[in-house]
Amino acid sequence: MGLKVLVIGSGAREHAIAHTLLKGDSVDQVFVAPGNPGMASDGITIVQLSQHNQAALIEFAQSNGIDYAFIGPEAPLIDGIVDAFEQAGIKTFGPSKQAAQIEGSKTFAKELMLRHGIPTARYQSFTNLEDAKAYVTEEGAPIVVKADGLAAGKGVTVCMDLDTAYKALEEIFVDHRFGSAGSSVVIEEFLEGQEFSLMSFVRGNEFWPMPISQDHKRAYDDDKGPNTGGMGAYSPVPQIPAEMVQQALDTIVKPVTQAMVDEGYPFTGVLYAGLIATKDGPKVIEFNARFGDPETEVVLPKLTSDLGAAIKAILDGGQPTFTWDEHRTTLGVILASNGYPLKPQTGVAVPEFDLSADPDAHVYYAGVKNTDDGLVSDGGRVLLVETTGDGIADTQRKVYAIVDNADTTGYFYRHDIGAKGLRGLND
Ligand code: AMP
Ligand code: GLY
Repeated sequence: MGLKVLVIGSGAREHAIAHTLLKGDSVDQVFVAPGNPGMASDGITIVQLSQHNQAALIEFAQSNGIDYAFIGPEAPLIDGIVDAFEQAGIKTFGPSKQAAQIEGSKTFAKELMLRHGIPTARYQSFTNLEDAKAYVTEEGAPIVVKADGLAAGKGVTVCMDLDTAYKALEEIFVDHRFGSAGSSVVIEEFLEGQEFSLMSFVRGNEFWPMPISQDHKRAYDDDKGPNTGGMGAYSPVPQIPAEMVQQALDTIVKPVTQAMVDEGYPFTGVLYAGLIATKDGPKVIEFNARFGDPETEVVLPKLTSDLGAAIKAILDGGQPTFTWDEHRTTLGVILASNGYPLKPQTGVAVPEFDLSADPDAHVYYAGVKNTDDGLVSDGGRVLLVETTGDGIADTQRKVYAIVDNADTTGYFYRHDIGAKGLRGLND
């Protein structure tokens, strides 16, 4: 009998996790709670339970003979879902509540890095407007203002001038734009260089890195418009040299996982390092305690080994096997609702894509729901179209052949995913 896995979450990331689990020989059935109806076409079983209803999820896992749970998003991790599941005797892949603070609190992450000499932007935290403003004035622009706590990637303002920085601080302390997430703020040195995402499977001080990828955080082409949860990604990132990645493993991933063991909150799960390739080497802009979205949708398709068996091995104390297709390029484009990220207009029919000409292509669904008229949009990021090709230009051509030919009225997407990879490091 094969494994039964319960994935928690509802986005394109969880769709990719579930789909990849099902591709391996060891997994028979994947449940996703709460999932979304777009996943059903891939043989994934949707369970209508909230990701916050720990008691109901535990009851479901126990009565359905789940072998282990895999937690996708940050919110349940920070709520302590892993601690609750494990107390109930359910094996769970993800960090404990304490370890998840590496994502949940920017101050926690920064202090950990400082204690262990992990390269990151210089910073100070503040809990009141006057001191924060005085620091910004002293440091000058460019400078980065971050609401502490979780603001889903949207609590960060990169300020190229001082006025923008003062405004960002006022939004946090006076307008309380980020609710309780804004009761304290981290002000950071601006790091110059290209961003890349380095994710690793982790168990304590052991880790198994994945191929790197690059997200596109701004809403519109040429990195214009507001920051979003991510508009597309590709992998590998050829302009980031292999030595830079090795340096990141040696000076960031290795010491931070060891530090978490040494300080008494060992990390199990996926550790995401959001890095900037500066002229002084890689530096951390953030850690996440989970798979990145949309990075997962372009990294997992490169896995050529059995994901479900590897996660089981990690949870059972064995040695997992991960092998990757390091040669071909994967690239994914997010289709977002018009108005995203400020005011997404939802309820629009979800486009159909013609994948018949491209056997490598796949659609991963996120903010969608079922109605009598079929699938409609139900959130900002609605789906991601991903494919595999030979190099960035070929893969862009393949993916945009699919997206450009669909009726995407009511939606928008970026037309330049992967463009930085074509231009090189000095972009
Ligand atoms: P975060 O939510 O911390 O990932 O920040 C969102 C985005 O802001 C990042 O993806 C970067 O593009 C940018 N950013 C964050 N911190 C810095 C920094 N110290 N220097 C330059 N850009 C940054
Ligand atoms: N793509 C960035 C994130 O998942 O936070």
